[in-house]
Amino acid sequence: RAQAGHPSFDALIAADLRVEPRDDMPEEYRSTLIRQIAQHAHSEIIGMQPEGNWITRAPSLRRKAILIAKVQDEAGHGLYLYSAAETLGVDRAELLDKLHEGKQKYSSIFNYPTLTWADNGAIGWLVDGAAIMNQVPLCRCSYGPYSRAMIRVCKEESFHQRQGFEILWTLMRGTPEQQAMAQDAANRWWWPSLMMFGPPDSGQDASKGHTAQSMAWGIKRFSNDDLRQKFVDMTVPQAQRLGLTLPDPDLKWNEERGHWDFGPIDWDEFWRVLKGDGACNAERIAHRRRAHDEGAWVREAATAYAAKHDASRAA
Ligand code: ACO
Repeated sequence: RAQAGHPSFDALIAADLRVEPRDDMPEEYRSTLIRQIAQHAHSEIIGMQPEGNWITRAPSLRRKAILIAKVQDEAGHGLYLYSAAETLGVDRAELLDKLHEGKQKYSSIFNYPTLTWADNGAIGWLVDGAAIMNQVPLCRCSYGPYSRAMIRVCKEESFHQRQGFEILWTLMRGTPEQQAMAQDAANRWWWPSLMMFGPPDSGQDASKGHTAQSMAWGIKRFSNDDLRQKFVDMTVPQAQRLGLTLPDPDLKWNEERGHWDFGPIDWDEFWRVLKGDGACNAERIAHRRRAHDEGAWVREAATAYAAKHDASRAA
């Protein structure tokens, strides 16, 4: 099956069928998926930190229970995604080492701080809202294990998005101080959420870009700018319902395009955060490394248990 030109792979892609781990695939397809799935998995587990930071300070038992469940969901997403990456022949220990050494990325968004309770609302509403917009098309990704992992992830993300919206909804019906807190959180999270979709498709800030190849392979189904526009179009009416003002004076309905126009994104900030110069980059990685080191005994115990189990089965 592993013939030159990967005919079976090309036929699968042409027919819009799923590529499975047993199938022959070009090396670049494999390495693109490992890069994207690893970055995605790392984002899920680093993404536990900004909200995890608020578990001890959630304003009620109900809010605390929801937040714990949500942060645990993110850990679960990381696990499905590391498992999906492993079907491509990499080891999750190796991927985690690369994260800890700064050799693989995680989403820019998680390098911003959670300053008030309202930030948990803004993260659910905007960050998880952006994540869903990006991830629903990944349920149709050409690589089977990744696409299947995305189905459950998206269902859970939509619960996360609603709980964030509901936090802000409650604050916006509260005291003037609570309304101001919600508005401040929306002001700080709006632009970084738009950056989550990645660099623009064209212009001076366009990256060398993986989009064209990833779309040809059916990994990405939409370009970064198309998804960003869909997100803006979905979110503006929600902001109006909440009574929040999005911090963009250029936000305007464009009748001709049938979309919301929005102002320029500060791509210098995005590239700075990617290079490690965001408010929380150092803290996020230090915390992750510490958690990894402190969890070493659990991994050792699990390995010893598995070896004992295998030995007793072989006997
Ligand atoms: N944060 C950090 N890095 C980013 C981001 C971002 N928001 N957006 C793009 N990049 C990086 C890309 O990884 C790539 O870097 P590399 O060449 O060193 O690997 C570079 O910027 C250029 O970007 P693209 O050519 O657009 O890269 P790609 O085709 O991989 O598209 C995207 C980026 C849209 C994020 C894609 O990888 C994707 O859909 N990933 C899955 C979703 C995901 O990772 N979500 C994580 C956040 S959501 C959450 O966890 C709640």
